Amino acid sequence: MRIAGSISEEPIKPFLEVKGKNVLSGHVKVSGAKNSALVLMAASLLSKESIHLSNVPELTDIEVMSELLTSTGADIRRTGNQLQISNKSLSITNTFLPYELVHALRASFVCIGPLLARLGAVKIPLPGGCQIGSRPVDEHIQGLKELGAYVKFENDYVFAKTKSPDKRLIGKEINLRCKSVGATETILMAATLAKGSTIINGAAQEPEIQDLANLLNKMGAKINGAGTNQITIKGVNSLKGCKHEVIPDRIEAGTFLIASAITRCPLSISPLVQSHLKSVISKLEECGCSITKEGDGVKVIPPKTIKAVNITTSPFPGFPTDLQAPFMALMSTAEGTSIIRETVFEKRMQHVGELNKMGGKIDLCQNKAVINGVAELRATYVAGGDLRSSAAMVLASLNAKGTSKIQGLDHLDRGYENFEQKLNDLGANISRKEALNEKKIINQIKESVPKHNFYSRAEVA
Ligand code: UD1
Repeated sequence: MRIAGSISEEPIKPFLEVKGKNVLSGHVKVSGAKNSALVLMAASLLSKESIHLSNVPELTDIEVMSELLTSTGADIRRTGNQLQISNKSLSITNTFLPYELVHALRASFVCIGPLLARLGAVKIPLPGGCQIGSRPVDEHIQGLKELGAYVKFENDYVFAKTKSPDKRLIGKEINLRCKSVGATETILMAATLAKGSTIINGAAQEPEIQDLANLLNKMGAKINGAGTNQITIKGVNSLKGCKHEVIPDRIEAGTFLIASAITRCPLSISPLVQSHLKSVISKLEECGCSITKEGDGVKVIPPKTIKAVNITTSPFPGFPTDLQAPFMALMSTAEGTSIIRETVFEKRMQHVGELNKMGGKIDLCQNKAVINGVAELRATYVAGGDLRSSAAMVLASLNAKGTSKIQGLDHLDRGYENFEQKLNDLGANISRKEALNEKKIINQIKESVPKHNFYSRAEVA
């Protein structure tokens, strides 16, 4: 099935105007990892003492998580990229999390683990699905039940309570049925304060889980094996405060690696941990890019002609689903045909239609996209339907001839710190425009309606 583009329309929400084909050069600094920072903030709920996080990106998702923690009584001080969180006054009366905030940020559901472990009870809304699929939380719930929690569902809320009289969870061997990052994080945090030992088999291995375990161990937890598929946690009575620096954002770094390839311009990108990006680097090398270590980052030198390669997304260390959309933008400009399979999320292909609007030649059959590379993408009006597809639209626009207008900035601002500024510093020409005002929209509608129709309606009125 060929996904055709819809009729181009002038954007009515704030949008980015991207003039394509600019030459990029120089160095870009990678921010701290959003997905790490969010769960590290949740982990702060486990201690009465202050947690000091550095390298926290300034993003709307981080603001929402701050609001959520504040709603439980947390005192949060922010200075630039530093965050000091004190959960001293957390009490059983604060275990009810607001519906709007959990819905605004799915990742906040992981607060269920630390709140239950520290206070013995929690009431939290079910986060529901999102643009990329239904996203169940059954593995989180099952894990908590196995650690001795009583769980019931009432009107879209989950109510969880420890069964034991001393309000503590009880360590257990847990077998995850799917490699879920969020469920691994929930269970890992909950188990740190449980009585006895917990083993998580089939644990997700993402670097953000290693970062979480490192923070928890600094807080006094006893965790081994994070980063492998079996994590063991020896429960302790309490956790203390500490300082911790968030790891570099591998997805943001990967987005800039792809930006270099799609613009065919060499870029230096740091800081990053190369082992966190192994699958991405190896695919870009297969495309013909030269990627060499440079300080605490890499230098990418792309070829004039990018070769088409196939990718299949899978949990770490496989190719990250979060870079599937940006990589598809790159493959749209490659020589030859590539096949991209999405296996992690059920509905993560919305960018296909938008890339086709830009002149891409992509056929989609469920979660398999066949991309026939084109010589050049062309600028038009597009919208990113989720965070990573918004980034993919920006990358595609950098390659396209002409001026593109991209909507979906609320998604982009959730996960990329100063994205357009960073690209502009490299030589791109991107400006953020406010939404068209209502009067202009009405005038445009009037102009698009044949005059005789318009007058006859006015006469009737
Ligand atoms: C995290 C990342 C997200 C990334 C994803 C996969 C954060 C804040 N977000 O999301 O950017 O795309 O990992 O790398 O860290 N599943 C179940 N039952 C569950 C939990 C998950 O069936 O209880 C399924 C999901 O529907 C999905 C798959 O498992 O199909 C992976 O989801 P998961 O690893 O949990 O993703 P998140 O933690 O939500």
